[in-house]
Amino acid sequence: MRVLGIETSCDETGMAIYDSDLGLMAHRLYSQVDLHAQYGGVVPELASRDHISRLVPMIRDLMQCCQTTQQDLDGIAYTAGPGLIGALLVGSSFARSLAWSWDLPAMAIHHLEGHLLAPLMEKPAPTYPFLALLVSGGHTMLVDVRGLGDYHVMGESLDDAAGEAFDKTAKLLGLGYPGGPAIAELAKQGEAGKYRFPRPMTQKPGLDFSFSGLKTFTLNTFQEQGAQEAAHIAHAFQEAVIDTLRIKCQRALKESAYQQLVISGGVSANIRLRELFAQHFSDVQVFYPKLEFCTDNGAMIAFAALMRLQDRCYEENLPVKARWPLEQLPTCS
Ligand code: KG4
Ligand code: ZN
Repeated sequence: MRVLGIETSCDETGMAIYDSDLGLMAHRLYSQVDLHAQYGGVVPELASRDHISRLVPMIRDLMQCCQTTQQDLDGIAYTAGPGLIGALLVGSSFARSLAWSWDLPAMAIHHLEGHLLAPLMEKPAPTYPFLALLVSGGHTMLVDVRGLGDYHVMGESLDDAAGEAFDKTAKLLGLGYPGGPAIAELAKQGEAGKYRFPRPMTQKPGLDFSFSGLKTFTLNTFQEQGAQEAAHIAHAFQEAVIDTLRIKCQRALKESAYQQLVISGGVSANIRLRELFAQHFSDVQVFYPKLEFCTDNGAMIAFAALMRLQDRCYEENLPVKARWPLEQLPTCS
């Protein structure tokens, strides 16, 4: 079985072909980061327009490179949500039109399921059930993953997502967009322990997160201490975010009694996070996507669609949704 996957939920145009025997045949990714950098964040209208101009040349190149024709495909998958509505509409209109004209199923894929399953593309892959920490620009969630589509949210962010906190804090510190890589880079020059920032919501029981106070705490420290302290402050901020994630994961693992922890989404590309988790989770298997598949990409959408196609458990032609609870997905056998 072979699937073409298309991702356009935010500022990356991603496309991939995934085959059940050959694995990932090829993928293409175009990041709009330069387009949005001058505005300090994603401008939705510009994102939609840019996706329009990328899709046709990208699919031509991808199909040619994989020597794949429409006859070789068993489905066309698109990200149906959550995300920016205009950007989603571009990808879904393209995918659904193509699927209709090629007489293939147009498979609606949930963006977060794409992130969640991305580590399963690697070897060794986790096996169900497992605990997942999903840390992206839009979401921070702890998910009890019992099987394909069988997702139970154990905790989530009550305000800013972890990636969003990185992005907003970077802006406050005068760093570029996206903020995650910018803070991670600056933090390398920071001295460990020079400042210690709070680990929000770790004193109380529960698995929810809140990062917006930490952002304000960082700004106040920056204003009090001055720009020459920026690297130490970036270091303290990064430690606080990832240590908070670590504490909540430990709690959720205890609650679920699972031995496998999957970490995915853009923030899982953070090298310091991977170091800290390796130090603390020696008794648990921790799985990550390949670095290039932590942030948005087409491969994770094609892969999630292939999993669902193999289980004959997917939804066709769904309209796009800016918001879409993960727990509403069809559960497969
Ligand atoms: O998963 P993703 O590409 O998009 C969403 O679905 O939201 O995640 C993007 C987020 C951004 O907030 C970005 O700052 C963050 O992931 N990010 C990082 C790193 N690389 C990307 N955060 C911390 N450290 C990184 N190395
Ligand atoms: Zn994403």
